[in-house]
Amino acid sequence: MTQPDYAALAAAAIAARERAYAPYSQFYVGAAALTASGKIFLGGNIENAAYPMTVCAERVAIFSAYAAGEREIVALAVVTPTDDVASPCGACRQVIFELAPRSAVLLLNLRGLRRLVTPQDLLPFGFGPTQIAEALSR
Ligand code: THU
Repeated sequence: MTQPDYAALAAAAIAARERAYAPYSQFYVGAAALTASGKIFLGGNIENAAYPMTVCAERVAIFSAYAAGEREIVALAVVTPTDDVASPCGACRQVIFELAPRSAVLLLNLRGLRRLVTPQDLLPFGFGPTQIAEALSR
């Protein structure tokens, strides 16, 4: 498989920040998920006055891809307005681990700082579908 166009994916993630609904934190995050079919699904963080209902940009992008019937996420870019690159929250790491396990995860900030990691880097020794399948097969 050819290398994903990371520059295009990063630009899509930056554009996705405009779709964020973050009136409470005003911390606008953008994410873009590139699927095996070549489509890019965008996500911005979507907050709620009942704060815990908030969904991070990463999950919005991934769920959007899955909702469209996509099952293979090749690359995921996440951009945060931070000094260092983004650090996805624990919930997002869990979701990335299961729903985008073979993806290249590009973390970036608005100053051009980038870091390419794997879902396994983000969630070492993670719990996933293999544990469930193994228990059900007994
Ligand atoms: N947030 C994301 O969307 N992605 C991250 O990787 C970190 C945090 C959101 C959740 C919330 O809307 C805001 O950023 C502040 O935590």
